[in-house]
Amino acid sequence: MAAYDILSFLSSNGWISGEEIASRQKVSRAAVWKQIQALRRRGYEISACTGKGYRLAKRPDLLDADRIKSCLKTKWLGREIRILTDVSSTNDAALSLACECPKGTVILAETQTQGRGRLSRPWASPPGGIWMSLILKPKMPLAHVSRINMAVAVAVSKAISSLGLQAGIKWPNDLLIGEQKICGILMEVRAELDRLEYAVVGLGLNANIDISGFPEEWRSTSLAAQLGHDISRCELIARILEEVEEAYEKMGSNEIYEEWRSRSVTLKRQVRITSAEGDYVGEVADLAEDGALLLQAGGKCRRVLAGDCIHLRALDREAEAL
Ligand code: BTN
Repeated sequence: MAAYDILSFLSSNGWISGEEIASRQKVSRAAVWKQIQALRRRGYEISACTGKGYRLAKRPDLLDADRIKSCLKTKWLGREIRILTDVSSTNDAALSLACECPKGTVILAETQTQGRGRLSRPWASPPGGIWMSLILKPKMPLAHVSRINMAVAVAVSKAISSLGLQAGIKWPNDLLIGEQKICGILMEVRAELDRLEYAVVGLGLNANIDISGFPEEWRSTSLAAQLGHDISRCELIARILEEVEEAYEKMGSNEIYEEWRSRSVTLKRQVRITSAEGDYVGEVADLAEDGALLLQAGGKCRRVLAGDCIHLRALDREAEAL
């Protein structure tokens, strides 16, 4: 019997005797006691009372590979989970492990000392967030590589909606609640000629984070700030992995692009794009199948494959509110 097997018997509303758990699990009371102790060592607060039994007083919110796996229904994603301490960036760790690890390996950390965002920006990674990198090895031509990004963005958006929140996708791949950023995605790939060897997809999700310490101009939010309470990161991670696996299976077709496009909050918006070719202001006419943004600006339609995007009306509204 594993420690997590008895968790399902323990709830915060009621007491359950060691005898009952033992008989339902077909183990001895001593075995139950051992598992209670193991759970306590992992940070679970379990009250014990003579004549009443046990009651779960508090769940820890620590990342725990066994706990994630106990909620996980995937076939291959997250079958290997590594939780690292003292990590600079989970993407760096994943990139150095990618060759030796099976596809679907997941790297997680409670904090990162040098979390990285897109365009080499630093990524604040305090405790309470989900800082996670996935090692993926899809067999696909390089031309389709943006579908991986799309699949992960769609998956995270769906996982967030399971909490009763709506997260839209801001081009290229930020997740927003309202106009505030809740999650960023950073994909890094290794390829030879037209063959993709692996992709590392890092996602930073502000889960149980007090964002009052974040600068206003980041326009960030967190799940805890939106919901008014903390969530179980392990359960949400399992949910994200399930959604990613499901979305991944659709990458062979255009379906994932359609879903990504339909969740976009950038379509038809007035935006300012900063790209390697220059800065442009205009309206987003469409999003192409390869992930490019089609910008209607100065009577021309420009294709922008990579860059930074700012939603202009949101900025106007913020300025008006000041
Ligand atoms: C962005 O919006 O700029 C992308 C942010 C990606 C952050 C995540 S956190 C886990 C992984 N490790 C990193 O160093 N970066 C990504």
